[in-house]
Amino acid sequence: MSLLLAASFDNAERARWLAELQGHLPGEQWCVWHPGLAAGEREEVEVAIVANPPPGSLAGLPRLRLVQSLWAGVDRLLRDPGLPAGVPLARMVDPAMNEAMAETALWAVLSLQRGFYDYARQQRQAQWLQHGQRRADQVAVLVLGLGEMGRTVALRLLANGYRVTAWSRRPARLDGVLTCSGPEGLQAALPEADIVINLLPLTPHTEGLFDARTFTRMREGSSLVNLARGGHVVEADLLVALEEGRLRHAVLDVFREEPLPAGNLLWSHPRVTVLPHVAAQTDPTTAAAVVAANVRALRAGQPLHHLVDRLAGY
Ligand code: NAP
Ligand code: GLV
Repeated sequence: MSLLLAASFDNAERARWLAELQGHLPGEQWCVWHPGLAAGEREEVEVAIVANPPPGSLAGLPRLRLVQSLWAGVDRLLRDPGLPAGVPLARMVDPAMNEAMAETALWAVLSLQRGFYDYARQQRQAQWLQHGQRRADQVAVLVLGLGEMGRTVALRLLANGYRVTAWSRRPARLDGVLTCSGPEGLQAALPEADIVINLLPLTPHTEGLFDARTFTRMREGSSLVNLARGGHVVEADLLVALEEGRLRHAVLDVFREEPLPAGNLLWSHPRVTVLPHVAAQTDPTTAAAVVAANVRALRAGQPLHHLVDRLAGY
């Protein structure tokens, strides 16, 4: 029985991942997917470890018992017609990644609270202009998604003195955080927030959530921080909301098309901060340990970790 790495990595990335995975799972048989992988090798594959798997790489694996994603978000994988039905799918849940996400969220919220993006813009124009200062407890932050990332982010912001509300699909509790759920919960929470942070999975229910209607519902002069998926935002509506002054600033790490095309207006908009999808990168060292734990659970016949609910889409 063997483990298959099926990923759209360049040679250096592939070598790094393989070294980390082999280090955490010594004694396992490994193969790396390539178009000429022999039928005999395919038949031995028990676990497929995937990151944007190349087309056809998950076909013809009769003994496959687990697909383990190296990414936290599985929206793209779930849309892949090559993903075998009926095989358990696990996603990446790594505390180190959650921490990285909390750092990015804190940087964005702090920068918005203290006007640091405005001062960066002023510097480019050699403009010496001081604005008023707000305390953290005067800033209301709404975190959309109260899962692995959302919880870590909400607690980090709470620890830094912000007023935090969080929205999830099902009712949830988190000490010190005001929680809400369902469409009515969001409708009530949006106008109260100075900063909205998106940490939702991309599903048919959350696709295009940030459209003209939502921007109209948001508080005048509030800001959006999108750290989840580009498909959550209708870019044309976002640009209108920024132009109208309804939105003060947008911090965007993810886009409908990545890399963000050179001509996209978001690149040059003075009140948009662009990151190249780096809010929380998968760390091969810590992530390999997560993969190893799941492979061991599979071998020991124990429950698998972080299984995706394919029907819910995350
Ligand atoms: P997670 O643990 O699955 O949490 C998802 C949260 O979203 C849950 O609280 C869930 O509610 C909520 N949710 C789902 N559908 C909803 C709906 N229709 N209405 C309201 N709430 C809904 O996911 P995670 O690990 O925190 O990751 C979140 C997303 O972050 C990933 O899917 C990925 O797209 C993105 N991400 C981005 C980066 C980056 O670098 N930019 C890195 C990693 C991940 P329940 O609690 O009720 O289930
Ligand atoms: C990154 O965006 C991930 O989903 O891991």
